[in-house]
Amino acid sequence: MVRTFAVIGDPIDHSLSPAMHNAAFLEARMDCTYIAYRVPRGEVPEGLDSLRAAGIEGFNVTIPHKVAVMEHLDSVSEECSLIGAANLVHDRGGRRRGFNTDMEGFLGPLLSRNVPLPGCRVLLLGAGGAARAGASGLAARGASHIHICNRNVEKARSLAEHCSRMGVSSSSGPLPSYVEAGFDLVVNATSVGMNGGPSPADMGRVSPGVVAYDMVYRPVRTSFLEQAEDAGAVIIPGWEMLLHQAALSFSILHDREAPVQTMKRALVGVFE
Ligand code: ATR
Repeated sequence: MVRTFAVIGDPIDHSLSPAMHNAAFLEARMDCTYIAYRVPRGEVPEGLDSLRAAGIEGFNVTIPHKVAVMEHLDSVSEECSLIGAANLVHDRGGRRRGFNTDMEGFLGPLLSRNVPLPGCRVLLLGAGGAARAGASGLAARGASHIHICNRNVEKARSLAEHCSRMGVSSSSGPLPSYVEAGFDLVVNATSVGMNGGPSPADMGRVSPGVVAYDMVYRPVRTSFLEQAEDAGAVIIPGWEMLLHQAALSFSILHDREAPVQTMKRALVGVFE
């Protein structure tokens, strides 16, 4: 019987996860399929029941359910509990276990570029689920200070407190109109810039050599990245994080190494 996997979220029509996972199944000759399944906000319990009834034993979770799904899990991984959000669930033997591959997925492109994280001064734009995973990863890797800016300042303050509890010096404030010098790494973890549009903050004044990392993956070159590159920054596009978290999800779901190059070709192919 074909085994079915899924990604749940809302909106979900444009998810790139089915393309990556289905390409991996084909490459690995696995009799599996991966679908996008819309679960509206507030309907997580019903959505999870439907997945179980359909025999779906593993699924990714995306906006807006990463935090909400937590209260419907029987157990969680260490990362999941640290971050307070799940982006992957195993549903086996009537028990659901949550994982979070966003944190490692976020760190992957930084580590592969040898960006020095211990002692790093970070400006993090955004304070949602993705920002939480990024902040936790940076805190765990020894960043020296994380300044968190968000439209909703209360959420920024709460994430800064989370970083402080992890032992990292942190501060918070509103989104600035432009990013000042004095940071080694600037991360856009807001959804601003998705499908075009302006950068959440002007990147034109960052110092050359700063690393600018956008979690937004569509378009590939966002205004945030273009402004940063023009100012001499090293840029990291969001599709790299997407690919890393998907490969890690694949290896957890199927207990085997992910065909990363195949998944990358499927992902990049969607952009072309
Ligand atoms: P994710 O799981 O991707 O982090 P999320 O939890 O919904 O999604 O978080 C979205 C982030 O983008 C938040 O930081 C949000 O800011 P608020 O907390 O103030 O809502 C930010 N964001 C979304 N739309 C925005 C906008 N138009 N201007 C500024 N920030 C925005």
